[in-house]
Amino acid sequence: MLKNCAKMLKPIQIGDHLMPNNAFLAPLSGITDKSFRTIAARFGAGMVVSEMIASAALANGHKDMARRLGRPEKLPHIVQLAGCEPHWLAEGAKVAEDAGADIIDINMGCPSKRVTNGYAGSALMRAPDKAVEIIEAVVGATSQPVTLKMRLGWNDECLNAPQLAKAAEECGVQMVTIHGRTRQQFYKGKARWTPVREVVDAVDLPVVVNGDIVDLQAAEQALAESGANAVMIGRGAQGKPWLVGQIGDALAGREPKAAPEGDALLSLILEHYEMMIDEYGEHLGVRCARKHLGWYLDALIEDGAVIDGPLRKRLLTAGESAEVPKILTDIFNQLEARAA
Ligand SMILES: Cc1cc2nc3c(=O)[nH]c(=O)nc-3n(C[C@H](O)[C@H](O)[C@H](O)COP(=O)(O)O)c2cc1C
Repeated sequence: MLKNCAKMLKPIQIGDHLMPNNAFLAPLSGITDKSFRTIAARFGAGMVVSEMIASAALANGHKDMARRLGRPEKLPHIVQLAGCEPHWLAEGAKVAEDAGADIIDINMGCPSKRVTNGYAGSALMRAPDKAVEIIEAVVGATSQPVTLKMRLGWNDECLNAPQLAKAAEECGVQMVTIHGRTRQQFYKGKARWTPVREVVDAVDLPVVVNGDIVDLQAAEQALAESGANAVMIGRGAQGKPWLVGQIGDALAGREPKAAPEGDALLSLILEHYEMMIDEYGEHLGVRCARKHLGWYLDALIEDGAVIDGPLRKRLLTAGESAEVPKILTDIFNQLEARAA
């Protein structure tokens, strides 16, 4: 449970945009689409970032990359670009700006082999000259502010986030986010927040700490160990799009809003589902929404709910969007009956 707990964090301003609090939703490819970002923003997230967008594909009109440019309600529209060629990153930044991006974020954290083999994502931390060329190209191509997300380094022998952050600051980058793992760790082991302090000490920019922050206690510990100005939360928000806003409120000394329950939760899930069908179309929407439905149920189970196995299976295998409201309502009716 989240408790009200004030922490004196300076508000973060990037360009004209003053963030409402210091807890941000991380970019998660395949997850933080426009629908999810809109819902997290409604629940008070301090910032939301698009899924990573492959710059060359975007500039060449790839349909799914264009979808990723969807603007969320409420908050500034932060578009994250990935790629290995300064030219394509610059082109991608122009397309993103034309499509309404308020801030461009550069991805230097993705560990995927598909991404790193082309010297994109975290592989750029092994090629700092190339990384700087890319940053310069993006800053030069857009009139919008540019931010950067990276890891601690490529591996434990190369923890160069402080040097790269400093170089990025000199190029005009306005905020850096550090995932407290190296590329060689992928997502294994625990994120380390203490080494992020070396980045905080190296730059005058706002620094955001990321990795394994799943509740207020972890957020406070990450801030205390790193000295960062804000936290970024990714997987912890799956099935709980209200969590980032709750942590943001608590860090700002405000009483966090209660998580939705019962009918309010059912309405939220159904609205999220409809938004996804709208965003992706029926065929793809039904498939992409399944993981979110599963996470919502997992979050209920984590809180002690017992969910009927066959109903869960029907929900997660439904082939048409029209089937889902009835199955979900049956699940919630069963939960209510059990609680009575
Ligand atoms: C499924 C998945 C997709 C991700 N996609 C992106 C992405 O598009 N851009 C990015 O910078 N990081 C991406 N990440 C990394 C997260 O933003 C974050 O740095 C990492 O998950 C650690 O934070 P967490 O423990 O709060 O999830 C992704 C991570 C996961 C698990």
